[in-house]
Order: sequence, then structure tokens, then C-alpha cells
Amino acid sequence: MAWIKVAAVADVPPGTMKQVTVNEDEIAVYHAEDGFYATSDVCTHASESLSRGRLLGHVVACPKHGGKFDIRTGEAVAPPCVIPLQTYPVEVRGDEVWIDYEEW
Ligand code: FES
Repeated sequence: MAWIKVAAVADVPPGTMKQVTVNEDEIAVYHAEDGFYATSDVCTHASESLSRGRLLGHVVACPKHGGKFDIRTGEAVAPPCVIPLQTYPVEVRGDEVWIDYEEW
């Protein structure tokens, strides 16, 4: 595991999300009302990019079939998704967003 800078805070306004790529892994960085979160950006149902969907509180909705995940835990919370997402610890350091990245 290693901490990696993935975005500037200003790049991810509150209520939005952004796709970043680390070592060819697509990761979604979310700016929720209580801070930043990060998960795999790849929906576990059929590999759609979650950052192209909608963020509602702590839930991201996949744009392809409407499945949903809790961005805090990666848990699938609405069908057709059942397999959880990989999550990453996040820290804000000054005006930068860092994640503790582990390759899967
Ligand atoms: S690809 Fe995400 S719900 Fe089907």
C-alpha cells in the first residue's frame, strides 16, 4: 500500500465525483458533504464507469442499469449489483486529495 496524490481538492467540487487512473486502475474520487471517498470506478455488475453516473449523498448510482453502491463501504445497496466495490482510504493534505492505493 502506498499513498498517492490523485487530484486537487478544487478538481472535485462538493457533490461531484471524478475518475482518476492509478497504475491502469480506474478509481472514482467522490466529494460527499462530509468529505472525500474513493472506490473502484468499475461497476461490479457489467464494468460501467460509475463516475459517469449520479452521486446522491453517500450512494453512487451506475448509469448503465441503475445499480447502487455505498461509497463509504463499497457495499452494493441496489440491484442488479451484488458484489461490493474496492474502497480506498482517503486523506486531504492541504489542497490535495490522496488515496492509500493497493493494487488488486
Ligand atoms: S453495469 Fe452497473 S448496474 Fe449494470
